[in-house]
Amino acid sequence: MKGIILAGGHGTRLYPLTLAVSKQLLPVNDKPMIYYPLSALMLAGIRDILVISTPTDLPQIARLLRDGSHLGLTISYAQQDEPRGLADAFIVGADHIGGDTVALVLGDNIFHGHSFYDILQENVTDVDGCVLFGYPVSDPERYGIGETDAEGRLLSIEEKPERPRSNRAIVGLYLYDNDVIDIAKNLRPSPRGELEITDVNRTYLDRGKARLYDLGRGFAWLDAGTPESILQASQYVQVLEHRQGVRIACVEEIALRMGFIDAEACDRLGAELAASSYGRYVRAVAAEFG
Ligand code: TTP
Repeated sequence: MKGIILAGGHGTRLYPLTLAVSKQLLPVNDKPMIYYPLSALMLAGIRDILVISTPTDLPQIARLLRDGSHLGLTISYAQQDEPRGLADAFIVGADHIGGDTVALVLGDNIFHGHSFYDILQENVTDVDGCVLFGYPVSDPERYGIGETDAEGRLLSIEEKPERPRSNRAIVGLYLYDNDVIDIAKNLRPSPRGELEITDVNRTYLDRGKARLYDLGRGFAWLDAGTPESILQASQYVQVLEHRQGVRIACVEEIALRMGFIDAEACDRLGAELAASSYGRYVRAVAAEFG
């Protein structure tokens, strides 16, 4: 399975924070926001990843993530000149996907839960159609919403419904089979001129090939699109990290635990950052493993 991180957009809800800096490079507690979606792909075992962003933001993101080899990954980059919508990722990324299945994650989405690794592993193999993830929210009218029957079968998908039929938001992590490229290419732009991911998902639903996996209430899904939500996400991460002494979305640690790099390589990465507590944590993890 290939991975795509969609990390463009204007970030207008964060102005003036994002006038000169990509939203996805803003801090969420102790690390850049993009580490969180990158971690999700890594935990799914995905090592070949395309990052899509704007022409101005792409060089900065590439400075951070480089070619990915230090994490045992292959990271490549593609430009999205205008924010043409989430489903544009499959057009911009068509060559990267090739004949494979693909996981798309949004660059401002943060996932945390103790069984996340197992949930991902359970869902990434042999994707036939699409797999969406649902999460209960208190303000469903702000999200794409999935309605399921008593057996968990997906019945409807609605974008920002005025009268939501359920409180299950569809989160910014989506798994697709290879048909997604053709589906995206044949979409008509929405009234706001974007290729909507909801229309892709609805196409799969109409074909009887969409599943919704419920992440449930013991899980954290946060999106960091406004100053308040970035602060809340930072606080969430800070409280857990401080309490447990472990870090969320430490990409060096995940690379080590997933077997993408060895303890020696992990220690070298930590040493480069040793002036920060993050870097010292990476070294401590490497020492414990080595
Ligand atoms: P949004 O939060 O919907 O859009 P945005 O980042 O431009 O922010 P704002 O609404 O404040 O202007 O986007 C969700 C994620 O998807 C975010 O990480 C940016 C990314 N994105 C793209 O890369 N390209 C796009 O065309 C769109 C719509 C979003």
